[in-house]
Amino acid sequence: MTNNNIYFIANWKMYGVIESLKTIKNVISLSNNRSLNKVNIIYCPPYTLLREFVKKTKNSNISVGAQNCHQQSDYGSYTGHINSKMIKNIGCKYIILGHSENRIMGDTDEIINKKIKSSLKENLKIIFCIGETLKQKKNNQTNVILKKQIKKGLKGIKNISNILISYEPVWSIGTGIIPKVDELKKQIVFIKKILSQNFSSKKIKILYGGSVNQANIKNLKQIEQINGFLVGGASQNHKKFIDIIKKSIN
Ligand code: PGA
Repeated sequence: MTNNNIYFIANWKMYGVIESLKTIKNVISLSNNRSLNKVNIIYCPPYTLLREFVKKTKNSNISVGAQNCHQQSDYGSYTGHINSKMIKNIGCKYIILGHSENRIMGDTDEIINKKIKSSLKENLKIIFCIGETLKQKKNNQTNVILKKQIKKGLKGIKNISNILISYEPVWSIGTGIIPKVDELKKQIVFIKKILSQNFSSKKIKILYGGSVNQANIKNLKQIEQINGFLVGGASQNHKKFIDIIKKSIN
């Protein structure tokens, strides 16, 4: 793993209530440690906790992000939704888009592309998730799928300096199964190759997500092309999350 600007994204999914904020105290102290000045810690709690997270992390090196948004950049009659403008307005800096759990709920590549564009307009940094399902992997379609998700998701976008690509094989999310180091390396190199056809390679940052934990981080960090990790389940436990961060940088 590269030592420069490493990212650790905590994706809390649909977990957490106000009391859960108490648990991030030690992560806040860790983020303020000078030796970690090249580490970016980003919490993505549910919408209901975003404002509280922004307030709580104000004097720390932690940033806050949303887990999704509606594709329309303007306000509108969309019951139950919020847009990138609203997310920016409450002090978020990041947003996760294209997560497979939202793709299966109806987010197509075209919708994700609109969400990315509206979020870029608001100057949010984007964590853009891509990844193949187990069926696609078994049918040797991984590269075709990744290429399609990248091309369509980033259609019309000229600059990716505010976009982090997170490779998340769907079969690895929440399952405890991670790709073999060689396999993962190969996929990351492929993703970089696709991206470098349209974007300056200096700006390409790739994260890995899917069952990252304190035990497998030692293997995962060996992959030098990786710029960080998107952590789901393990990030809800501050001890595990801190352990992952510490083990990655040591
Ligand atoms: P997981 O989730 O770490 O629980 O597998 C990762 C993700 O969904 O981004």
